Amino acid sequence: MSETSPKLRAELEGIPTYKPGRPAASGGPVAYKLSSNENPYPPLPGVMESVTAAAASFNRYPDLACTGLVNELSERFGVPAAHVATGTGSVGVAQQLVQATAGPGDEVIYAWRSFEAYPIITRISGAQPVQVPLTPGDVHDLDAMADAITDRTRLIFVCNPNNPTGTVVKRAELERFLDRVPGDVLVVLDEAYREFIRDPEVPDGVELYRKRPNVCVLRTFSKAYGLAGLRVGFAIAHEPVAEALRKTAVPFGVSQLAQEAAVASLRAEDALLGRVGSLVCERLRVVEGLRGQGWTVPETQANFVWLRLGEHTVAFAAACEQAGVVVRPFPGEGVRVTIGENEANDIFLKAAEGFRKEL
Ligand SMILES: Cc1ncc(COP(=O)(O)O)c(C=O)c1O
Repeated sequence: MSETSPKLRAELEGIPTYKPGRPAASGGPVAYKLSSNENPYPPLPGVMESVTAAAASFNRYPDLACTGLVNELSERFGVPAAHVATGTGSVGVAQQLVQATAGPGDEVIYAWRSFEAYPIITRISGAQPVQVPLTPGDVHDLDAMADAITDRTRLIFVCNPNNPTGTVVKRAELERFLDRVPGDVLVVLDEAYREFIRDPEVPDGVELYRKRPNVCVLRTFSKAYGLAGLRVGFAIAHEPVAEALRKTAVPFGVSQLAQEAAVASLRAEDALLGRVGSLVCERLRVVEGLRGQGWTVPETQANFVWLRLGEHTVAFAAACEQAGVVVRPFPGEGVRVTIGENEANDIFLKAAEGFRKEL
C-alpha cells in the first residue's frame, strides 16, 4: 500500500467540524435536550400524513426544482417564484451563498459570537472570515461591521435574532447599516428564528429585500415549523442571487418527504401560531425566572436564552445535565439554553437557581 495520502485543500486544515448540540443520553439522568434550538412539539397537523404518502415513492428522485414548495412560498411572501431558492436546511443555503460569492482572497463579515457554521462555510470556500465582536450587551455592532467592509468583502451575515445570544437588531439601525453597504456586497439576513420575534421594531427581512437587490433573506423549517430532521430551508433573493443558488445547490438535495412536509406545515398556520405562542410565553417565564434569581439575561427574541457565564460555563452545563437537561456550553463564554417542554424549563430553572446559590 502507498505511503502517500490524497492531497486535500490546505484550507481544510484547522477548520473545525460542526459540533451539534449533545443529545439527552438515554438511561441517564438527562431527560431533555435543550442544546439545539429544536422545537419540542411533534409535527404539525397534516404533516405526518403527507410524509407517509410521499414515503411510498422514495424509490424516485424528488422534484429537483421543489416546484410545489417554491410556489407555496412565492404566494405566502408575495414574491416571484424565481426569487425563492430552497436547500438542505438554511445552513445548506448559507453555504451555497458563500460558494456563490466568495473564494480565495475574498472576505466574509459576520458578528462574533454568532452562528457557528459561518466560520466553517466561509473557510471551506477558501474565503477569509472577518469576525466583528458583539457589543458588551451581546448585540451586533453594525457600525463596526460597516467599518470592516473592504473592497474584498463579498458577503455579510446579519443573524437576526442572533444565535446564541437571542438579541436583535432593529429597523432604524439595520436600514442605516444597509445604506452603508455597497450595492455589490451581498447582505444575508439570517432569520432562522423569525417566527419567535415579538418586538415590533425588528424588521421583517422580506420587506427590506424588496427595495434592495443586495439583500437576501434566509429562513428555515427547522425551528418554528419543527422539521429539523427533514432538512429544508430557503432563501428569498433577487434573481441573480437566486439563480446562483440554483447553480450551487446539491442536485436533489431536498427530499420529496421534506418538500411535502414543508408544504403541509405552511398550510397548518393556526396550529403553528398556537405552538410558537406557547413557546414565546415559556420564554418569558424562563427569562423572568432567571432574572428573579439574579441572573443577567439579554433580551431574547428567539427560542433560547443566553447566559454569559464566563469561567463558570462548563460547571453550569454539568449542573444542568445532572439535573436532567442538556444545554449548550460555549466554554469560557456562556451557555445557550433552548426553550423546551414546560417540564424541561422547570428543571432548568431549578438547576440555575441551585447553581446561583453556590456561586
Ligand atoms: C442562525 C441560524 N441559521 C441557520 C441555522 C440552520 O438551521 P437549518 O440548517 O436547520 O435550517 C441555524 C440552526 O441552528 C441557526 O441558528
